[in-house]
Amino acid sequence: MDFEFSEEQEAIRRMAREFAARSVAPIAAEIDKQARFPKEVVAEMGELGLLGIEVEPEWDGAGLDPIAYVIAMEEISAACASTGVIMSVNNSLVCDPLRKWANDAQKDRWLRPLATGEKLGCFMLSEPEAGSDAAAQTTVAVPDSSNGGDGFVINGVKNWITNGPQADVGILMCMTDRDKGHRGISSFIIDMNAEGVTRGPKDDKLGIRASHSCQIFFTDHKVGSDQLLGKVGDGFKVAMSTLDCGRIGIAAQALGIARGAFEAAARYATERKTFGQAIAKHQAISFMLADMATEIDAARLLTYRAAALKAAGKRHTSESAMCKLMASEVANKVAKNAVQIFGGNGYVSEYPAERYYRDAKITEIYEGTSEIQRVVIASNIIKALSA
Ligand code: CAA
Ligand code: FAD
Repeated sequence: MDFEFSEEQEAIRRMAREFAARSVAPIAAEIDKQARFPKEVVAEMGELGLLGIEVEPEWDGAGLDPIAYVIAMEEISAACASTGVIMSVNNSLVCDPLRKWANDAQKDRWLRPLATGEKLGCFMLSEPEAGSDAAAQTTVAVPDSSNGGDGFVINGVKNWITNGPQADVGILMCMTDRDKGHRGISSFIIDMNAEGVTRGPKDDKLGIRASHSCQIFFTDHKVGSDQLLGKVGDGFKVAMSTLDCGRIGIAAQALGIARGAFEAAARYATERKTFGQAIAKHQAISFMLADMATEIDAARLLTYRAAALKAAGKRHTSESAMCKLMASEVANKVAKNAVQIFGGNGYVSEYPAERYYRDAKITEIYEGTSEIQRVVIASNIIKALSA
């Protein structure tokens, strides 16, 4: 066991921290208030290699390891959680399944421009009636031989799709054989600008307001068989294995939110005076700070462990669920206590605490709610006991 970063990991931390301080943090409050997608920041992230961190250089990515990804995600999210999730979706939910499931021709066409940031991706699993119960897909793809080809025609609707309003490329899960249940789900690579794909208005959200999500409608949308990701019937496994990796990214986003809130609160606690001394000198406040620092570190170690298992090519379903569960709950507790430490100033938007508090909540909901992480962890415990 080694608790030291490699030189490469230190380098990405430095780079991500400098970039976050220079380009992300200064506009975080403004883009939150205006619910504005930070197009210019996303373009810079592409140039810096932050949108394809683990993508092999062969496919124009940065070729770094999963821990480097966690480090960068924490740095960006500490400055702005909206920017963090835009980055996380492109890396974990779009580039990752393409790395794992796409053939070389598909990688050349779709992965390359996603890794450089020339294109932005989204991941379309959830539907109005299929959130936690992800296998309850109603969007359908049926064989289409109208042009003498062997493609599919897709109809249905997807919900809450992060990057949906901006995305050029999407990973779609839908039913190709309803009778087979989850084994009848397939995955497709979608050109989001093609005919038959339309986007609803952006969702008006509590937090991560500069990250946009929307409904995506498929109306007789035609795809070729060269857009099938994996084989027919592989779609649920594509989705679940992708989420095993995505949950590490959201854990890192939650770590960033927690650290940002903690650092702001710790600074404030040394500056704000009551009863003749800094509030950090009151034990009630200093114990809050001690608990925050301890719990953030515990969540970070769980997140690094899941990332290390991924790096070693080992199964990490349970460990990913654990780090996402822990980090999201820590982020919510830390952000709530940060508001408390700021007192009245915690409740107004001149100070950052209320934004961290609003942003933290989503980490307990997306990429599987906390209840679903517990379902995943418990089912793995039971499986191990009965093996
Ligand atoms: N990797 C590979 N295969 C897996 C797997 C994994 N981690 N987990 C399950 N599977 C396979 C199983 O082996 C099984 O395969 P076979 O039966 O063919 O052998 C199959 O999938 C079904 O497994 P389950 O019976 O466990 O599936 P289930 O229907 O009970 O659902 C669930 C399990 C964990 C609850 C799942 O539905 C789930 O994760 N729900 C939450 C959905 C979610 O996280 N959505 C996130 C959307 S993306 C998002 O939110 C992005 C964002 O905000 C930015
Ligand atoms: P439901 O499944 O209806 O759950 C409602 C409540 O019941 C929750 O508390 C849940 O934990 C609980 N519950 C449900 N089933 C169980 C159970 N078996 N045991 C115990 N409790 C249970 N999806 C995508 O595909 N792509 C995206 O990019 C994306 N981005 C998102 C961005 C935002 C801002 C939001 C809000 C959502 C996004 N989602 C995305 C969807 C997200 O993954 C789902 O909202 C989430 O998985 C929960 O599904 P649901 O909203 O349908 O809740």
